[in-house]
Amino acid sequence: MAAWNELFLNEKFIAVLPQPEVFKFVKVLERIFPDKPLSIWDLCCGAGRHTVLLSQMGHKAYGSDISENGIIHTQKWLDNNGLRATLKVADMTEQAFPGTTFHGAFSWDALHHNTIGKINKAVENVYESLYDGGMFMVSLISTKSGSSFHGKEIEKNTYVTEEGSEAGVPHHYFDEQGIRDLFKKWKIISLVEIESTYIETNIDFSINPFPYTKWNVIV
Ligand SMILES: C[S@@+](CC[C@H](N)C(=O)[O-])C[C@H]1O[C@@H](n2cnc3c(N)ncnc32)[C@H](O)[C@@H]1O
Repeated sequence: MAAWNELFLNEKFIAVLPQPEVFKFVKVLERIFPDKPLSIWDLCCGAGRHTVLLSQMGHKAYGSDISENGIIHTQKWLDNNGLRATLKVADMTEQAFPGTTFHGAFSWDALHHNTIGKINKAVENVYESLYDGGMFMVSLISTKSGSSFHGKEIEKNTYVTEEGSEAGVPHHYFDEQGIRDLFKKWKIISLVEIESTYIETNIDFSINPFPYTKWNVIV
């Protein structure tokens, strides 16, 4: 995933503030499992904003990503703040932390960067590594996303563009059935399609501050 690896050398592409949804999800986990610290996996952690948050919240933070530069950035961020986490450069299809069981896991804006077979494998890995009652929160792009269908369709609903900052990165777009198929082994706690309607937009995709239509899922 060379594209993301290079993006993490450019400040413009490094998200700094954590998503409020991730903070709130950790609070949900804390209610379910009252004994801190919890073990929580940030799958496809990128430059580390949520792994840092987990550590700041006093939990055992685990972060994995295919981008070595993302993991290096995360480690520096932790070190600069006297925080700790277990990090690994790993593809989403790998079990990055074998033998570790998690109270929760999340993957924000990342799992759709693959073909559906590999996304299924990544979700299966999380399933196998959660405690009973553990939860997984995911955000995934929707087939209704305004950025949909850029590039060449390499399988149903998976596209690869040859242009721009995401050249070469696959995007799998999910409809409701696609989400239900992905999580067919799981109990769905929350399935939400957050819709954005772009009336006018004259700003480059890479610096657009607004979201596209996405699925937010807790299973
Ligand atoms: C939009 S970024 C999101 C990063 C992070 N979750 C966040 O919210 O800041 C997408 C991330 O997915 C990672 N990624 C893409 N394909 C991957 C793969 N096959 N295995 C693991 N990580 C991957 C990229 O390296 C990048 O860090």
